[in-house]
Amino acid sequence: MLSHEENERLTRVGPGTPMGNTMRRYWMPALLSWELPEPDGAPVRVRLLGEDLVAFRTTDGKVGLVDEFCAHRGVSLWLGRNEDNGIRCVFHGWKYDRDGQCVEQMNEQRPFCSKVKIAGYPTVEMAGVVWAYMGPRDKQPAPPNYDWTLYSQPNVAVNKGVQECNWLQALEGGIDTSHFTILHRALKKNPIQYAVSVDSPGMKGGAPTIEVEYTDYGYAYYGVRPMADESRYVRGYHFVMPFTALRPPGPDKQQVHGHYWVPIDDENCMVWNFYYSYGGEDMSTRITDGHSGNSYGDFIDINNGFRPVRNRTNGWMIDRAIQKTETFTGIEGINQQDRAVQESMRPIVDRTKENLGPADKAIIATRLLLLKAVAAVEQGGDPVGIAPSYYELRAAEGTYPKNVDWRGELLPRMYPKSKKQKAPESAA
Ligand code: FES
Ligand SMILES: [Fe+2]
Repeated sequence: MLSHEENERLTRVGPGTPMGNTMRRYWMPALLSWELPEPDGAPVRVRLLGEDLVAFRTTDGKVGLVDEFCAHRGVSLWLGRNEDNGIRCVFHGWKYDRDGQCVEQMNEQRPFCSKVKIAGYPTVEMAGVVWAYMGPRDKQPAPPNYDWTLYSQPNVAVNKGVQECNWLQALEGGIDTSHFTILHRALKKNPIQYAVSVDSPGMKGGAPTIEVEYTDYGYAYYGVRPMADESRYVRGYHFVMPFTALRPPGPDKQQVHGHYWVPIDDENCMVWNFYYSYGGEDMSTRITDGHSGNSYGDFIDINNGFRPVRNRTNGWMIDRAIQKTETFTGIEGINQQDRAVQESMRPIVDRTKENLGPADKAIIATRLLLLKAVAAVEQGGDPVGIAPSYYELRAAEGTYPKNVDWRGELLPRMYPKSKKQKAPESAA
């Protein structure tokens, strides 16, 4: 439970807000590289942290990300001409470079370009994603070299979809491991829609104990489920500040999956989904499979700003007959089920009214870290997680006999290249 003030502090991300200032200290996924397929091609609208921006690929192939609106009289640069390493407003021909600096004013005999600048944010492209940094230039962190961003197709796949609620409740749903065998469960073998199998270790195990271990990038956490034979089924995750989760893919796969919950504004976020294999597996089908509830066309309408096809206005297309006999929700698609429950809480959930229990430990840890980061930035310091200590992290899971030290087995897989094979003592 949070006070109203804390809830406001954590959820609002517009320019000048405490969380907005904090979030602007991190790199964040802004758009997919394929949305800007060619130099001097069509610009794309991007809304991030409540700011309306346009992205364009320059003549040199770099990505500009600038304020959508012309500094002259406010025309949208989405209408603009993308030419000769800049975006030109079609009204009076003012042109801006990637930094947002005005470089030409076609309607002026004596141009005053040097006095005119709009916002322009640095970008980097990695793993088919354009990443943006929207904070103070002198505080720009090292590039976001997550383990997955160093792989390329077909070993990595990434897609995205809008979730019509505040970023924090979307994130809190994603890191909440206790729900995955409930919300996503099948009611019988081979249901007509994909669901977590009744034969999976998670379903066979009991409710989990959640263990949280704070780190210098956020925390590692574990859902430890007791099995009937007294072994333990352990799922190990990482939470990387401020909105990233790495999760294990299911037993026996050399893969990691994960999400970024990036605020579009206070009441919408973009959920980024990535899937990669460090064992050479082809991940390209993850973009199109319907199981995840993220495939374009069936679930996400890419012609409508990546908005969900199943949404609040159509009751997430819940099928009550399927809910009775086939799956727990009657809603198709694993991540679509997540979207439905989180959107159903209303745009910004009222955290003064909730009742958290021990199964919500990771959620409590997230809020503590975020509040600390906001306080650190307010006091002129750095928030946790901007140092590159999150590079190389992986999520992993396994089933371990009663007498086996599961940490000794699991942590080397979660910190594979690091000397650190054991996370710090639990502080939650
Ligand atoms: S409004 Fe853009 S140049 Fe005049
Ligand atoms: Fe889920």
